[in-house]
Amino acid sequence: MIYVLNGPNLGRLGTREPSVYGHTTYADLEKLCLETAERLGVRAEVRQTDAEFEMIKWLHQAADEGADVVLNPAAWSHYNIAIRDAAAQLRGRLIEVHISNIHTREEFRHHSVISAVAAGVIAGLGVDGYRLALEHLARFAG
Ligand code: DQA
Repeated sequence: MIYVLNGPNLGRLGTREPSVYGHTTYADLEKLCLETAERLGVRAEVRQTDAEFEMIKWLHQAADEGADVVLNPAAWSHYNIAIRDAAAQLRGRLIEVHISNIHTREEFRHHSVISAVAAGVIAGLGVDGYRLALEHLARFAG
């Protein structure tokens, strides 16, 4: 199982700052991930939450299952140590994804506290980053 976990405000994709995040809606993103997983022959579940406790619960579940995770921690990337500590417990691979290129944006977005516990990071490729992350993880699925 690959969990695709999305943090705060990502449920508003499509209407949220389209000049930064594009016009793809959250429903489109979910569809893209599920279709990609199906094409690759892997199982995926796509979730979004604005609540820290819920994200931590999902990461614990993924850790217990030894599942791989594609995580867009959204704003939590930049300051949330509890999310990082939960992500650090994963036994499967973790790919951190950002739709925008956080390095070309405001200074406070340049650093992610999650990246040090991720196998890899994709930023700035739009929602295509999710597809690429799933393709990478599918290589190791078996
Ligand atoms: C984001 C970048 C973060 O800085 C921001 O807080 C988000 C989305 C991205 O996908 O580009 O909510 O993670």
